[in-house]
Amino acid sequence: MVKEALSITDMRTQANYEIPIHDGTIRAMDLRQIKTGPEDFGLMTYDPAFMNTASCRSAITFIDGDKGILRYRGYPIEQLAEKCTFLEVAYLILNGELPTESQLKEWVSGVTYHTMLHETTKKFLEGFRYDAHPMGMMVSTVAALSTVYPDARRVQDPHARKLQIMRLIGKMPTIAAYTYRHGLGYPYVYPDNDLGYAENFMNMLWKMVEPKYTANPILARALDILFILHADHEQNCSANTMRAVGSSQADPYLSTAAAAAALAGPLHGGANEEVLKMLDEIGSKDKVPAYIEKVKQGQFKLMGFGHRIYKNYDPRARIIKWAADSVFEVTGRNPKLEIALELERIALEDDYFVKRKLYPNVDFYSGIIYQAMGFKPAIFTALFAIPRTAGWLAQWEELIEDPEQKIARPRQVYTGHIVRDFVPIEKRGVAASAA
Ligand code: CMC
Repeated sequence: MVKEALSITDMRTQANYEIPIHDGTIRAMDLRQIKTGPEDFGLMTYDPAFMNTASCRSAITFIDGDKGILRYRGYPIEQLAEKCTFLEVAYLILNGELPTESQLKEWVSGVTYHTMLHETTKKFLEGFRYDAHPMGMMVSTVAALSTVYPDARRVQDPHARKLQIMRLIGKMPTIAAYTYRHGLGYPYVYPDNDLGYAENFMNMLWKMVEPKYTANPILARALDILFILHADHEQNCSANTMRAVGSSQADPYLSTAAAAAALAGPLHGGANEEVLKMLDEIGSKDKVPAYIEKVKQGQFKLMGFGHRIYKNYDPRARIIKWAADSVFEVTGRNPKLEIALELERIALEDDYFVKRKLYPNVDFYSGIIYQAMGFKPAIFTALFAIPRTAGWLAQWEELIEDPEQKIARPRQVYTGHIVRDFVPIEKRGVAASAA
């Protein structure tokens, strides 16, 4: 029988060690016994950006990046996108199973009941500058909810956690819509409990003076599908932030605010806004080859391309392309699609991209649909944050329930001075030039 273990010989000491292998991993702490002597701290691993380190055990999302597979709780993303609503998928991600009819009813009504923001939070939002970026407003407002719900600090209490989860999933669209209306100088629209999750969000964004806003059902369904595609993506930068902050037992509003801050960066969820800027900059299909040349020269990155995990077509990008057809039937084709398709065509044939396995990711086409639906690019990342809140909270729940998890605290390889004597201020220039 094959032994699930790694045999290591330390060439410094000639000592042999046997390190057990479980689930294709070795425990980094098992390396600590490898020492050159009693004074030696023991061996550590060095892994900037966690390129090859599993930080947790998780049963939420499975990705096979080489094959382009994404599954939530074992269900293929394609099936969920076709057959479910976003709230059904959020329930699945959070609870591990698809809801029964009565569970779904209770869950949807719970989330719907929690869509309102406290008036003081609304006033807080009003304090931002007219041109504040929606993500800056969103991050701050989610953090501010921590002051409204002090019961959220009871992170070990499953009932308190469940309540905060419903509040957060309910309130994220309201916050996103308010940040949007704030920029336009329009009055905020209160949630409407008669409407579904996506329709209600559209209502809060676009209702003007009509007594009842009616969302186009095709666009509402497309938005719901986009929400499903963005709901979770295992240990990405923002999920890792959620876990890192949550590991200190900070309340879920603070952890979610931190995760949303991580999402805002252009290499993560901020990429969808950057893709639109890039398409604007390129301007027309004939300018694509020259733009690709500049990318290859390393002048800038092709935004919406490449992924740490996917070395194949991102399955979410494929579904978005398919959903785009139904959106464009209602809105007309976004002219930027021509440029994007040409970028994809050339990039997928070019050796630079082929060799590095760079394919379009979820952010490449999502912005084009969002824009066709009437969203301004500045809100794109907030559109990502709304559904990802379900994923962040599922990761947080899993973290809290996991007896192996502790406060996240990586090690470092110290590269500074070992020890130095203090230098009085009048001697510092001299000391520095002598050094
Ligand atoms: N355009 C041009 N070259 C690229 C790109 C790109 N978009 N992405 C990676 N490369 C090159 C990179 O320069 C490197 O080349 P070399 O081997 O010559 O140094 C090689 O491909 C490997 O890239 P890497 O930087 O080691 O890859 P990574 O896993 O650290 O980064 C990434 C992944 C997503 C941050 C990166 O691909 C990127 O910056 N893409 C553009 C931003 C983007 O679209 N982000 C959204 C990601 S998906 C949704 C999400 O996470 O929110």
